[in-house]
Amino acid sequence: MVQCPEWYHSIELAPGIVTPGRAPLDVWERTLRNLGLPDLHGKSVLDIGAYDGFFSFAAERLGASRVVALDEHVWATDMAAYIKEWKEARALGIGVPAPRDSRHWQPQTLPGKRPFDAARKLLNSNVEAVVGNFMTMDLSSLGRFDVVLFLGILYHMEDPLPAMRRIRRLLNPGGFLGIETEAVEIPGAPDAPFFEFFPTNELNNDSANWWAPNAQALEGLTIAVGLHKFQLCVGPQHLPPVALLKARMARTRFRYRAVAHAYAPG
Ligand SMILES: C[S@@+](CC[C@H](N)C(=O)[O-])C[C@H]1O[C@@H](n2cnc3c(N)ncnc32)[C@H](O)[C@@H]1O
Repeated sequence: MVQCPEWYHSIELAPGIVTPGRAPLDVWERTLRNLGLPDLHGKSVLDIGAYDGFFSFAAERLGASRVVALDEHVWATDMAAYIKEWKEARALGIGVPAPRDSRHWQPQTLPGKRPFDAARKLLNSNVEAVVGNFMTMDLSSLGRFDVVLFLGILYHMEDPLPAMRRIRRLLNPGGFLGIETEAVEIPGAPDAPFFEFFPTNELNNDSANWWAPNAQALEGLTIAVGLHKFQLCVGPQHLPPVALLKARMARTRFRYRAVAHAYAPG
């Protein structure tokens, strides 16, 4: 039997049997719904930064004919040991190295991929796993896709614009890009696109987090690489009114998780 001491995603493996992820199943399902995905029947889907594969398996369940789950950092790390160290460090207010710079980096054995592999097997899934660093790998081997999911990963990119250019190369004409990301707003700030920068571990005690866009910068990234029909599906206006009011009254920047999509011209 495969031991998976650390799950990130809650994945329903059989009716009523759900992996113990970091958030309840309905939180992941809500993000999926918020993306405003097109009909996936017969479509090809690339899930960049797939982790345990919740969104890859969901795309397959929704009828996609080809789903590629791509990841490296988490898959190549002993995540149970890494998260234990990260929690201890956070309690002490100190940072930990990013997974690839840590002593838990094990690219030969891919311990962090075990949960994905176990779920894939139990779901009898045909999702293809590709181990690779999206920013440095040869993209030509992947093919092109009708749908690319870039969820929870934009803020891990040291260079967001080149990352978006690489995604653009992978989209078929009319293709859909779904983005979920940490985002920032400053109530009362001039109406302009900007990114907040995290030089060390300021965001979530994770030194692999670099940038959070505001809504305009997020849209700007899609425009800059030639995508159109940008829609901010979850923006600051969708936050609970009390949270929004508190942030406005404090007149300080606030962070939230934005969900958006855009299309390649057809
Ligand atoms: C916060 S998790 C998001 C997981 C999932 N997409 C979600 O939204 O629930 C970020 C994931 O991106 C992966 N990742 C970060 N940088 C990457 C890169 N350059 N290439 C491939 N995967 C990367 C990490 O290994 C991790 O699995």
